[in-house]
Amino acid sequence: MRKPIIAGNWKMNLGQVDAAVKFVRQIRPLLSEVEGVDVVLCPPFTVLAPLAEMLTASKIGLGAQTMHWEAGGAHTGEISGPMLAEMCQYVILGHSEQRASAPEHVNDETIRKRIGAAFEHGLIPIVCVGENLEQYRSGATDEIVGKQVAKATEGLEAGQVEGMIIAYEPIWAIGTGEAASPTDANRVIGLTIRKVVSDMYGESVAQAMRVQYGGSVNAENIKDFMAMPDIDGALVGGASLKTSFVDLVRQAV
Ligand code: PGA
Repeated sequence: MRKPIIAGNWKMNLGQVDAAVKFVRQIRPLLSEVEGVDVVLCPPFTVLAPLAEMLTASKIGLGAQTMHWEAGGAHTGEISGPMLAEMCQYVILGHSEQRASAPEHVNDETIRKRIGAAFEHGLIPIVCVGENLEQYRSGATDEIVGKQVAKATEGLEAGQVEGMIIAYEPIWAIGTGEAASPTDANRVIGLTIRKVVSDMYGESVAQAMRVQYGGSVNAENIKDFMAMPDIDGALVGGASLKTSFVDLVRQAV
């Protein structure tokens, strides 16, 4: 059985130490009481260190929002796997906002390199895939998402694929308040994402890998997504910045 996993993607919010620490102090005791679900907070780089300290004795995981594939060197402004591995356990890779803002730097090829580097440095990648509105409207969702998943997982070891997390995030559903329908999301995850992985690595790997849905998930709709057999949790943006994130996590079990 796959354990549900809810990750909060704070994006470029709560990146000042006082605000981040205050927020985590509020939600930490409440989140710690919830059993049966993995919870991960993905704040900006600037607060990873203080939050790592706050969460050492807690089962709440910590993740970064992106990472370079090289371990070090002349890459001004970048953060590497070894730097993150000191502070966190997870890293979001290939988020559509990253893909869109720097397509030459964040694309299927470099995302695959980042995934390899994440594993090399002991981090669990949360890899985002998803179609844009035009692709959705023209019925290209399965082709686009299938390709992204194939490229992201190409040449990995089966055990790595089992251990990674894929977040299916239709771009048109992110931050819009218009979530995909749970049945549509379940269909893409079950019939495309797991199918691609099954064809490449076998059915047991496809069934072991956890796949989240992301895009306008909140405390009200999370239950409908979690009721779907192929959806193992959510990558949550806006709704992870409020204390009601605790309710969302409770509803996910
Ligand atoms: P949202 O963002 O929950 O605010 O739609 C999700 C994401 O971008 O990961």
